[in-house]
Amino acid sequence: MDLRELVAAMFLFALIVMPLESLQAQSVRPPANAVNQGIDKQIDEQIGTSNTLGTNSQSDYWRDLRHGKDGLATSGQSGRKLIQAQGEQWRIVRKTYIVKYGGWVLATAIFLIVLFYLIRGKIRLKAGRSGETISRFSLPHRTAHWFMASIFILLSISGLILLLGRTVLMPVIGKNAHSIVASAAMQGHNLFGPLFIVALIWLTFMFIRGNFFQMADLKWILKGGGLLGPHASAGHYNFGEKGWFWLVVIAGSIMAITGMILEFPWLAESLQLLQISVIVHAIGAIALISAALGHIYIGTLGMEGALDSMTTGDVDVVWAKEHHDLWYEEVTGQKVANPEAEGSQSIPDHNQISAQSQTTET
Ligand code: HEM
Repeated sequence: MDLRELVAAMFLFALIVMPLESLQAQSVRPPANAVNQGIDKQIDEQIGTSNTLGTNSQSDYWRDLRHGKDGLATSGQSGRKLIQAQGEQWRIVRKTYIVKYGGWVLATAIFLIVLFYLIRGKIRLKAGRSGETISRFSLPHRTAHWFMASIFILLSISGLILLLGRTVLMPVIGKNAHSIVASAAMQGHNLFGPLFIVALIWLTFMFIRGNFFQMADLKWILKGGGLLGPHASAGHYNFGEKGWFWLVVIAGSIMAITGMILEFPWLAESLQLLQISVIVHAIGAIALISAALGHIYIGTLGMEGALDSMTTGDVDVVWAKEHHDLWYEEVTGQKVANPEAEGSQSIPDHNQISAQSQTTET
């Protein structure tokens, strides 16, 4: 091949090959690894199996991810997180522990209350009612109490439907009816939640006075609240009532904070905070509802004369002496010689008691 033939052959080759190469360069087809570039890189870094793309399902990778290795999107913002491995653990904890054991804790609380009623019966006034009353709670106190009680009961019912409805209600009323009840419960729960915060602040403000622990409470505990035998003296509130008050304030605040995070999820910085909030909210609810059942029992069926203080605002003098003798002494200035059964002896003038009592309770 002479020089002219060689130049002609090269020219021909260039004419054929170069357009092909430029065509290839302009192709709209992305490079083979374009889509999976980020994934491959992370798989390489975490597991080192990038050669397997296309020939297997990367099951090892996904399995690792399920067992706690976060992958792909590592941003802290929940919205950009594609997969969060803890989600599966959270689901199991909620379903296995919270729903299952939460239901059992509530059932146990009801069982214990019934058992207590069967063993102890209604706590009656030993000396019987005297007919003379003493003022215990003002109207603002009672309004704050019943506002809280109403909101709490509505939240408890709607919350329990959301927590246990699928397990307890659905098998009984069916899927369709359950879905209607559950969505109504969710709307109600979202509506009453913010009102609970108002009720909590109001209740705390109205009842905090007289609810700080004192030495008399230690004596009350040592005497088992009077249930073990000898009379246990108490001021305006006994240790059990003070414990209930602080449980409502502390657990109620935790419920309010976690509830707000769940109702307005964009407040949460991460998905994990939402998951923790669900668990804490459910545990707090079970604890509060169980304790509330005990409180409601003792305020109604369990103790003669107790409900009067939250309905009329006045209690029988005998009730005051038998259950809150130190408070009675403070209000009337009269010593209670035998708080167990002093009955209607030495009852001071009613008007005098009411006037003095009002000054101590605000
Ligand atoms: C139907 C339901 C309820 C009934 C019948 C009831 C009854 C009563 C009664 C009779 C008292 C006065 C006790 C006394 O004179 O020493 C009282 C006090 C109180 N109740 Fe209720 N209650 C109910 C629901 C609730 C609920 C749901 C809450 C809170 C979530 C609550 C929180 C309180 C508080 C904080 C006190 C004051 C006790 C203290 O500060 O130590 N009650 N309740």
